[in-house]
Amino acid sequence: MAPTWGPGMVSVVGPMGLLVVLLVGGCAAEEPPRFIKEPKDQIGVSGGVASFVCQATGDPKPRVTWNKKGKKVNSQRFETIEFDESAGAVLRIQPLRTPRDENVYECVAQNSVGEITVHAKLTVLREDQLPSGFPNIDMGPQLKVVERTRTATMLCAASGNPDPEITWFKDFLPVDPSASNGRIKQLRSESTPIRGALQIESSEETDQGKYECVATNSAGVRYSSPANLYVRVRRVAPRFSILPVSHEIMPGGNVNITCVAVGSPMPYVKWMQGAEDLTPEDDMPVGRNVLELTDVKDSANYTCVAMSSLGVIEAVAQITVKCEQGPWGF
Ligand SMILES: *[C@@H]1O[C@H](CO)[C@@H](O)[C@H](O)[C@H]1NC(C)=O
Ligand SMILES: *[C@@H]1O[C@H](CO)[C@@H](O)[C@H](O)[C@H]1NC(C)=O
Repeated sequence: MAPTWGPGMVSVVGPMGLLVVLLVGGCAAEEPPRFIKEPKDQIGVSGGVASFVCQATGDPKPRVTWNKKGKKVNSQRFETIEFDESAGAVLRIQPLRTPRDENVYECVAQNSVGEITVHAKLTVLREDQLPSGFPNIDMGPQLKVVERTRTATMLCAASGNPDPEITWFKDFLPVDPSASNGRIKQLRSESTPIRGALQIESSEETDQGKYECVATNSAGVRYSSPANLYVRVRRVAPRFSILPVSHEIMPGGNVNITCVAVGSPMPYVKWMQGAEDLTPEDDMPVGRNVLELTDVKDSANYTCVAMSSLGVIEAVAQITVKCEQGPWGF
């Protein structure tokens, strides 16, 4: 096991790899682990899924593990999915077998200050033993493709007695709408199939994943088949929406040349004069670049270059300095 450094300690690797530990002192706000999410006892169905969610807090941040009779759970059908930097862990069992999976599972949270354990009991019923009110998924979520920034709705309808509560898992972790800044909502309307639907607004690439709808009541828990949500990112090669315009100006005149390009991803836009870059490489604007020319003496050609991972395009503006034709006509 890796050493656990308490708060206020700084480790420095000195010359010749010597490990020096400096005690910085001060904040000794050590705190033993405390559960913020405790697993609940569950009644699953043979062939189905059960997952127990456990999360702890403390200082230093605790590490959460799952045990069975004091030993780490270990089977092909058992998976531990860590989250919150290992301060949380989901124990997922799939497919459930009866009676062999019927056990008490232990979630252990540990840091350098202490260790605590919470227990959760799993009961697994055969399909022909289920009580009549056992939750049923009447309609599970379906594979969906959504364009980035658009709204995606994953539907789920379930029945049972009492009326089951619907929750969602994404990639085996519980979906927490309250952690999404209101972007992810579980719809609460009375009418099915909208009742338990998960609505994801202005979808992001991180929303892509495997979603499961879970119906739970006092009789047990039932998982839907998983459904993938794909978030598609449109890819559009750069093109100019405002082409740079050629100008004729008087000697010593000023002119601004605007160049605007669009695409997805948005292209960078720079100006060049011949082979010379006029826009600093490390400060290249995206989408729009205005070349400001002052006190122009000589005619020249300026090239606007727009580039993204999908391509590079160019457009030339010709700046022609007119020969002075004063009142004397020379
Ligand atoms: C060019 O743009 C600058 C900054 O917006 C502005 O101050 C200036 O007057 C413009 N020059 C011309 C010739 O339009
Ligand atoms: C700018 O480009 C045009 C067309 O290629 C060319 O005829 C002209 O001589 C160029 N002007 C300058 C100042 O290089």
